[in-house]
Amino acid sequence: MKNNFIVKGNFITSESKDKLKVFENAYLVCLDGIVDNIYFNLPEKFLNLKLIDYSDKIIIPGLIDLHVHAPQYTFRGLGMDLELLDWLNKYTFPEESKYENIDYAKKAYSEFVKDLKKSSTTRACIFATMHNESSVILMDMLDKTNLKTMIGKINMDRNSPQSLCEKDFKISLYNTINFIEKSKAFKNCSAIITPRFTPSCSDDLMKMLGNLKQQTGLPMQSHLSENKNEIEWVKSLCPTSKNYADTYNRVGLLGENSILAHCVYCTQDEVEILKATRTYIAHCPQSNINLASGIAPIRYYLEKGLNIGLGSDVAGGANLSMFRAITDAIGVSKLYMSIIENDAKPLSFSEAFYLATAGAGKFFGNVGKLEKGYKFDAVILCDEKIRNINELNLIQRLERIAYHMEDRAVFEKYVEGVKI
Ligand code: GUN
Ligand code: FE
Repeated sequence: MKNNFIVKGNFITSESKDKLKVFENAYLVCLDGIVDNIYFNLPEKFLNLKLIDYSDKIIIPGLIDLHVHAPQYTFRGLGMDLELLDWLNKYTFPEESKYENIDYAKKAYSEFVKDLKKSSTTRACIFATMHNESSVILMDMLDKTNLKTMIGKINMDRNSPQSLCEKDFKISLYNTINFIEKSKAFKNCSAIITPRFTPSCSDDLMKMLGNLKQQTGLPMQSHLSENKNEIEWVKSLCPTSKNYADTYNRVGLLGENSILAHCVYCTQDEVEILKATRTYIAHCPQSNINLASGIAPIRYYLEKGLNIGLGSDVAGGANLSMFRAITDAIGVSKLYMSIIENDAKPLSFSEAFYLATAGAGKFFGNVGKLEKGYKFDAVILCDEKIRNINELNLIQRLERIAYHMEDRAVFEKYVEGVKI
């Protein structure tokens, strides 16, 4: 038999967008990386399988980071005094320039990879830099972790410092195709087309990347409507475009395998584009706080039925933990209610948990739930270090872990049935 086993413990998974389901003291059967089912009484035919006992622990689907910048991990928690465009120029671009140097890239990326491996994250969509060689190094390191990741060599051919500016759209496209070719050697990592954002990419480059996406069917990730000055800038750079979202949509870059981070200030027309194309929103609440970007109307997007997940957006976000993204998403949704729209209901814990698991999981296929037919991505959580005076139920224990322990509660984790 292949990789078949039973996990015993207390399972929590999303039943729907706003409801959690608990299986206390149950058995999950994993057959070759896929959840067969969760049972309270183990069927006889499975009695000979290896049983892993996590009886006192809490088992949840792996958390998914839909938006993170690996090269920015080196300055996480630093330089929080500026808004987006000044922050990019003063802190981000100088740091990303260093990844031209392979020794620096190896050293810096190994710290990121080591910490991501230990975290509660099982899958992630990652921005590297515009450098091919160091982006392949990142891929190689991530591949060895057995986490499932998508990595983008960034495209930038305008409005960037010389050290990060590809000479023209042809060079940028050539480098991207070369990166995609190299990515085929890896099994857990794959390439994702990554125009940094519209201000960094010429119209010609955007067109070429749109063609490339259409030809290859590869996924795409970028940024949308994060900051008011950024939005004004895009208007002046793309006067013929209907709106910011249209700068991606008009070249065929959107779709159900595309992710746009932030979407803080989307207009009605842009929301319709995101809905029609089934593009994913990566909501990055901590980054939106740190860069004073604003508060994304996530309740409205949920009601519109858009695809949404959460992102850490390190180093806009200082913290790699997706538990932190869950609790920050709840926090900023309360500020949205109190400051912007009084009848916008804040996110519940179950809803924010859904976004970080099943909501984002759809981007990867049958991922994000502990349910029959889903890939067995799971995090085993140990909360014995938290002293609770009152007895808590399993959902309360999970909530306390999210707010209070974050990734320090991670005991073990699995991705597609493989123990990390
Ligand atoms: N927009 C373009 N580049 C970036 C980046 O690196 N981080 C964030 N938060 N927004 C961006
Ligand atoms: Fe970002």
